[in-house]
Amino acid sequence: MSTREQRSALQAPLVTPALETLLLAAQPAALFLLDSAGVIQHVGGAWERVTEYAAEEVIGRTLASILRLPAAGPDGLLDGSGQSTDARLLTRTGVQAVTVSWQQQGEYIAGHLERCRPGPVRTRGGRDLDQAVYCLGVALDGGQGQHVDRMVSLASRLAEAICLPDEQLREVRWGAALHDVGKSRVPQDILGKNGPLTPEEFEVIRHHPAWGLEIVQALEFLTEPVRTAVLHHHERYDGQGYPYGLRGEAIPLSARIVAIADVFDALTSARSYKPAWSPQDATSYLIAGAGTQFDPWLVRVFVLDVLGFTAFTEQLNGAAFL
Ligand SMILES: [Fe+2]
Repeated sequence: MSTREQRSALQAPLVTPALETLLLAAQPAALFLLDSAGVIQHVGGAWERVTEYAAEEVIGRTLASILRLPAAGPDGLLDGSGQSTDARLLTRTGVQAVTVSWQQQGEYIAGHLERCRPGPVRTRGGRDLDQAVYCLGVALDGGQGQHVDRMVSLASRLAEAICLPDEQLREVRWGAALHDVGKSRVPQDILGKNGPLTPEEFEVIRHHPAWGLEIVQALEFLTEPVRTAVLHHHERYDGQGYPYGLRGEAIPLSARIVAIADVFDALTSARSYKPAWSPQDATSYLIAGAGTQFDPWLVRVFVLDVLGFTAFTEQLNGAAFL
């Protein structure tokens, strides 16, 4: 080899475009490249496996149309760099909890998505405390029988479906267990009334979240999300709920989760004033209230991932979730 050939070989790039393509294709995360408006320009790595979308389906769309970042807000990707561990990816069949990392690279934003991993196993001490909180919730819920039991199960499954970290899972479980402890201060003749409530009686009922907060505030180990689940579980996403008329994501996440589990279980349970609804009818009610009464994304996760009702996918898609 001549000197010139030797110099040329030394100057040749070690990684050719073909090898670079192979390298990117082998990445375990879903890679994406956005323009400054957040529009997807290129995807690679495990994009198709993680997101269930082919490249040609998403290039030209904004990433925000299939990804939600509760912590960073809808435009959170468009500024600087960061990581969100509780992002949610809208796939064709449901909602997948993902971790998303991104970084500004000149006029582009490069980043990747990974599926969440399950949290650590609970300890014996943690289970004992769970049981104590659960027993307190059952004792003070105004005689609603198995409601608390089912509520804890539904709310926990919804929290797991959005891949909340272990500590937040526990806060949701406890919030669900304690959500109606304030009903212990509502007179039984109002709680158990067969006919319609008078406006005065309804006012008494509406006070149960504030009474609940008074009760749980005495337990100092209960964190803020547990307390806010108790206080705000009757708020509505459109701001028409009570006691404070909070709106949208101003309503704490724990309370938005508990609200969905609470209404679904109330509808599917027989009461003195109504028969039990079928799970399908209760699901249609949740979908009809998505965006007005309930957080629409949580409704979607609940219906598709918790209940597994994929037959409702089209109905959910028609409810302006994208
Ligand atoms: Fe309640």
